[in-house]
Amino acid sequence: MDVVCSGFVLLMILAIAPVAAAAAKESAVNLLEAEALLKSGWWRDDTAARNVSAHCQWRGIICNDAGSVTDILLPNYGILDGLTNFSFSSFRNLVRLDLSGNNFYEAIPYQTGALSKLTYLNLSLNDLHGQLPSSLVNLTHLAQLDVSWNWIGGLIPPGIGNLTDLVTLDLSQNCFWGRIPPTLGHLSNLASINLSNNYFSGTIPSALFNLTNLSRLDIHFNPAMGGFLSEEIGNLKSLVELDFSGLNLSGALPLTLCRLTKLVSLSGAENQIHGSIPSEIGNLKILEHLVLGSNRLTGQIPPTLRNLTTLVTLNLSSNQISGSIPLQLSGIPSLTFLDLSYNALEGELPCELVTKFGSENFVGNPDLHHDSTLCGDHRHHPPYYIIGLGVSFLVFSLIGGLVLYIFCKTKVKKVELELMDNKHGDIFRIWNYDGHMAYEDIIKATNDFDVCYCIGTGGYGSVYRARLPSGKVVALKKLHRLEGENPNFDKSFRNEADMLSKIRHRNIVKLFGFCLHKRCMFLIYEYMDRGSLFCILRDETEAVELDWIKRVNLIKGIAGALSYLHHDCDPPIIHRDVSSNNILLNSQLEATLSDFGTARILELDSSNQTVTAGTFGYMAPELAYTMAVTEKSDMYSFGVVVLETLFGEHPREFLSFIASQPNEPIMLKDLLDARLPPPTNHLVVRNVAVATALALDCVNTNPKCRPTMQQVVNRFEVGRREPTRPLHAIAVNQLVSPPVLSLPDQTCADGRSSSSTINEFHVDISATLPSSNFSIHVST
Ligand SMILES: *[C@@H]1O[C@H](CO)[C@@H](O)[C@H](O)[C@H]1NC(C)=O
Ligand SMILES: *[C@@H]1O[C@H](CO)[C@@H](O)[C@H](O)[C@H]1NC(C)=O
Ligand SMILES: *[C@@H]1O[C@H](CO)[C@@H](O)[C@H](O)[C@H]1NC(C)=O
Ligand SMILES: *[C@@H]1O[C@H](CO)[C@@H](O)[C@H](O)[C@H]1NC(C)=O
Ligand SMILES: *[C@@H]1O[C@H](CO)[C@@H](O)[C@H](O)[C@H]1NC(C)=O
Ligand SMILES: *[C@@H]1O[C@H](CO)[C@@H](O)[C@H](O)[C@H]1NC(C)=O
Ligand SMILES: *[C@@H]1O[C@H](CO)[C@@H](O)[C@H](O)[C@H]1NC(C)=O
Ligand SMILES: *[C@@H]1O[C@H](CO)[C@@H](O)[C@H](O)[C@H]1NC(C)=O
Ligand SMILES: *[C@@H]1O[C@H](CO)[C@@H](O)[C@H](O)[C@H]1NC(C)=O
Ligand SMILES: *[C@@H]1O[C@H](CO)[C@@H](O)[C@H](O)[C@H]1NC(C)=O
Ligand SMILES: *[C@@H]1O[C@H](CO)[C@@H](O)[C@H](O)[C@H]1NC(C)=O
Repeated sequence: MDVVCSGFVLLMILAIAPVAAAAAKESAVNLLEAEALLKSGWWRDDTAARNVSAHCQWRGIICNDAGSVTDILLPNYGILDGLTNFSFSSFRNLVRLDLSGNNFYEAIPYQTGALSKLTYLNLSLNDLHGQLPSSLVNLTHLAQLDVSWNWIGGLIPPGIGNLTDLVTLDLSQNCFWGRIPPTLGHLSNLASINLSNNYFSGTIPSALFNLTNLSRLDIHFNPAMGGFLSEEIGNLKSLVELDFSGLNLSGALPLTLCRLTKLVSLSGAENQIHGSIPSEIGNLKILEHLVLGSNRLTGQIPPTLRNLTTLVTLNLSSNQISGSIPLQLSGIPSLTFLDLSYNALEGELPCELVTKFGSENFVGNPDLHHDSTLCGDHRHHPPYYIIGLGVSFLVFSLIGGLVLYIFCKTKVKKVELELMDNKHGDIFRIWNYDGHMAYEDIIKATNDFDVCYCIGTGGYGSVYRARLPSGKVVALKKLHRLEGENPNFDKSFRNEADMLSKIRHRNIVKLFGFCLHKRCMFLIYEYMDRGSLFCILRDETEAVELDWIKRVNLIKGIAGALSYLHHDCDPPIIHRDVSSNNILLNSQLEATLSDFGTARILELDSSNQTVTAGTFGYMAPELAYTMAVTEKSDMYSFGVVVLETLFGEHPREFLSFIASQPNEPIMLKDLLDARLPPPTNHLVVRNVAVATALALDCVNTNPKCRPTMQQVVNRFEVGRREPTRPLHAIAVNQLVSPPVLSLPDQTCADGRSSSSTINEFHVDISATLPSSNFSIHVST
């Protein structure tokens, strides 16, 4: 009996245990999710969303039976936030995320790629900038992706072709450049693509014409595109809506277009399309909108149009269509909008058409005759108050138009002025550039500094990317308008341009020229296509590409550039804003120092030193109480950048950790960027260790104790001959040591004893010396 009973109990326990464990795990996961929701702050103003244990009842949250969040649907919820506060990795079961119509800013975080079950992602109608993160490729179940109406730019990650479950893709109203990726052709389930209102260039990739399930294709308004509409368009038999307006397409309308018998809307306005409208257009039996205005169409209006009995809109204005207007058009029962203005139509304009559509839709056809007295006017009069409104609207429009006109006139005058000055060579100047470049090219290439070409904004101005007619890309730094009107800034900007024109170093960004005019001040630089070190270190893929050898070379390159500025230039130039944001990389991942001295060099010798320069997190601590600028403040910033480069992130926490817990031993290997395999080659290990040691000296709170840039450069040279320990044995330890790199300096020693901060930390890399007594061994 006993035996039987305990056996039964045992069986019970065995049966229940896994369930209990699973339940515990479940509730832990749910708690994590609840905390992540709370931490996001998105429900801050919602009193109903205070009870964390009831988070599944919060507005916009849907959970599965196990209590795990599957949906976060907060469209138009008034959230003003970066997405960085959201812990994406906590939501393993999230299927739908709708944050559309809020005020999310900054870039879409890389961590979005952690939502591996996501099928629906809607971030449209926000203020998002930056690029689409490459990690989106991980969302392999994504069926709907909508990021429309943001400021997202750059290239579409080619890996998007791996999201083969995509049904809807909406990238419209953004700043995307570089071409439509042909890999979109792999997305065979796509039903709707919207790429309209962007800055794509090139032609429509023929891979798109493999998407036979596509019912909506909207590419309209990408003014940098071109080419012609391929006859392969006829493959897209499911198309219901097609818009290729404003792509600067040339060539004729392909006949195959008339095979798309499911089309309801066909728009191709504002191109350079020539030839005639094929009479087979009559095959499109359910077409409602046919819009081909502002092209170069010739020939006649095909009489077969009358077969389109469902047609509502027909707009063929601003072409060179000739012949007479087929009377049968008025026989199309549903036709409500007809615009045939500005063509070469001839003959008599039938009264019926004028009566139905209004004479304004036929103007601009010199050979089209119409006797208004014969027709009489049977048009329905609008009520008088509408006319009243119309008149006042007209007056306003006229005034508005006049203001605009005057404004445009001034603008044109300004350009002329600049061009005139240009001849004297002192307003717009180009050198150092192997090709032709004109002021108008730059204005055109950026659409007069349109925000979409803006690739970054800083304290002084914004940086734009401009592709010149030659195909070359340059970067433009434009002073903010207000600064441009300030005489001090104006002077510094001019002086900087002058000074930079004399500087030449392979690790300093090249200046090609400038435009210096009160209304439009910009500098023209070499374009560094991989962007800033800051961004590269924050992108998981690019960070790995920047391996240890490249990082060490980057550090040496920047050291060389600063040494050149500090020691080879006369008078010396202090950068004053060394940060990972201002280190730019080219396609070979070679670094250049940029953004230096914009107005800062010159303030050095002017009496006005009240402008604080520098980036928070990189600024030397003494700048909090002194405006006296020395090259030692650059050294501090350099040290921070070196640590950031080696650790893969800003050393903020490391610095405060060792400041607060100076006795805690730290191994170098634990600090290095874990995304890269640790360096093994002993030369690389030594370089990494030397760079760390130098950086720690540079971040000394006492400026006098920091090495000079020349010493840093020399140290790298000396370091070549030094033996090294293996990486795992190198400690960033807390040994007090003499200032190893600074010149022996009494003031410095005093300063050290009075401060107990990070300046006392050094890397022990010497194998030949007892590790307990030394940090870096230098033999100068
Ligand atoms: C919070 O929600 C839980 C679960 O729904 C409920 O049991 C509890 O009473 C709620 N607490 C408060 C303070 O409302
Ligand atoms: C993000 O979180 C931090 C700390 O929790 C908070 O101070 C900050 O205001 C949040 N950011 C925004 C934009 O809400
Ligand atoms: C995304 O959200 C917007 C605004 O809430 C909505 O209009 C749009 O249809 C949504 N997109 C998709 C693909 O559902
Ligand atoms: C995306 O997937 C790759 C490879 O599976 C992984 O290394 C990476 O961490 C993932 N990214 C995110 C954000 O989860
Ligand atoms: C896309 O998938 C292919 C194989 O299907 C793979 O080789 C490639 O690495 C994937 N691309 C990305 C960016 O994940
Ligand atoms: C088109 O969609 C249907 C389902 O609607 C699917 O069965 C078919 O495989 C799709 N075609 C292609 C080429 O993927
Ligand atoms: C594409 O997007 C634009 C802008 O967001 C919108 O006006 C247009 O209606 C969309 N086209 C289609 C076919 O949905
Ligand atoms: C289109 O599909 C066909 C066969 O399915 C394939 O041979 C061809 O390479 C594809 N074209 C493009 C441009 O992807
Ligand atoms: C439009 O295309 C033509 C060639 O077909 C080219 O000459 C012209 O520069 C293009 N226009 C724009 C605005 O790109
Ligand atoms: C258009 O309709 C007419 C009759 O009104 C018919 O004779 C003709 O074949 C039709 N054309 C097309 C292209 O369907
Ligand atoms: C017809 O199209 C032209 C542009 O091609 C546009 O300016 C005009 O307003 C359109 N007409 C109507 C009635 O919408």
